[in-house]
Amino acid sequence: MNDVIEIIPAVIPKSFAELEAAAKLVAPHCSWLHVDVMDGVFVPNTTIQNPLEFHQLKTSLKLEAHLMIWATPEARNAWFDSPAERLIWHVEAFDSPDEIKRTVESTKAIGKQVGLALNPETPLSAVEPYLDKLDTVLVMTVKPGFAGQKFEESVIPKIAALRQIWPNGTISVDGGIRVGTARQVVAAGARRLAAGSALFGVGDFVEALRLLRGTTV
Ligand code: DX5
Ligand code: ZN
Repeated sequence: MNDVIEIIPAVIPKSFAELEAAAKLVAPHCSWLHVDVMDGVFVPNTTIQNPLEFHQLKTSLKLEAHLMIWATPEARNAWFDSPAERLIWHVEAFDSPDEIKRTVESTKAIGKQVGLALNPETPLSAVEPYLDKLDTVLVMTVKPGFAGQKFEESVIPKIAALRQIWPNGTISVDGGIRVGTARQVVAAGARRLAAGSALFGVGDFVEALRLLRGTTV
């Protein structure tokens, strides 16, 4: 496997202090931080979610915002003004395919990278029309909402199918990523992995990151 596999630490910040602490820990070792944003409506969990708060964060990390929120016009505009360099929207969070298309185009037009995320049960057909405009597709291998859930193996064929129809695209996977599951999703075609509980709260972040990176080279 010659392609570089990128591991992005994932945080579910309940407060600005938590976001800041995660960024401090991660910054010396990574380029990106995956920030899970939850509105308590699209998913049954809540994080800090005012994009303005993210402007207060002083870090060398680039932010990838995984937006588990209803993609209302207000929410969309607010996130366009955020410091996140990559916005990942959930296809299930829009009222119509037309809204998805417009949001993908607007995110690109303001100079940010754009991704679409798929819940475990959502079929690939939901992202297919937009593939040529996307920087990444984030395939969820747990139901969005919480860290530390069990990896859903049944999603692996979807990753492999996406690899087939999108051979040069960047497939991201999020949920239950640890040493064994990382190997499985990379074999299926994933190139970017978001990992939460395998890296945080295990005692030694740097060692956990080294181990996870080591499984995917
Ligand atoms: C789930 C989040 C994930 C999660 C990852 O809703 O989007 O990013 O925090 O945590 P683990 O790796 O513990 O599943
Ligand atoms: Zn996430």
